[in-house]
Amino acid sequence: MKKMKSALLALLLLPVWGCSRPAELESPAAGPAEIPLEILGELDGDTLETLVEEPKYVALTFDDGPRASTTSRLLDGLLERGAAATFFVIGQQIPGNEALLRRMAAEGHQIGNHTYSHVRLAGADKDAVVEEIHKTEVMLQAAVGQGSFWLRPPYGRMDEQRAELVNTPMIYWSVDPQDWKLLDAAKVADAVTGCVRPGDIILLHDFYPTSVDAALEIVDRLQARGFAFVTVEELFRIQGVEPQAGSLYACPNRTRCLE
Ligand code: NI
Repeated sequence: MKKMKSALLALLLLPVWGCSRPAELESPAAGPAEIPLEILGELDGDTLETLVEEPKYVALTFDDGPRASTTSRLLDGLLERGAAATFFVIGQQIPGNEALLRRMAAEGHQIGNHTYSHVRLAGADKDAVVEEIHKTEVMLQAAVGQGSFWLRPPYGRMDEQRAELVNTPMIYWSVDPQDWKLLDAAKVADAVTGCVRPGDIILLHDFYPTSVDAALEIVDRLQARGFAFVTVEELFRIQGVEPQAGSLYACPNRTRCLE
């Protein structure tokens, strides 16, 4: 009986119903599977939800770092859990933290640009906008090598004219628990896990110890519900969306209007 049950569980793991994943993730053999009722009856609802639904992908993003103490503890926890994340770093925070950036890259995380001194770009002097982005880009290249460092405008603020100066996609967010204000790991974790949906981009700040605790709690709870944590770039790829330079995305299938 045990053997039969695990064989059927393996069958259940195939995407069987209403699968909307990109073609390369589909199993060619996947089709409607017949699951004997007596086996279904033995599984509780949560297990079933985890087994029969398609994988649920979300992206954790962290702003305003790196910060030696908090960011390294976060990286330890993410590594332990096999979770990837995206870090939008401030240029001013980079000196002395280059090894942390190299660790992020080596451990499969995505690194993005959050300007040099965390300025509001909407309405700012155009030369200053270019300078704020470029300066951080050069520092990132020096630390981790060539790459495309997507931009998260500070405060999520960007306008149409200045967006034309940005030659990468820009990433907003679709879940904001206001971790910087709550400064309470349990409340932040509850806020996220209570409303998160597959495809979401979650905003946190690795600058705060409470946010690091919250992030790891979020990973534990959502992994138990069948969620997988990927970088923002991977989330776009999984959803089959080609992000455009100068566009501001709340998540892969939703852009945000520029000011
Ligand atoms: Ni910020």
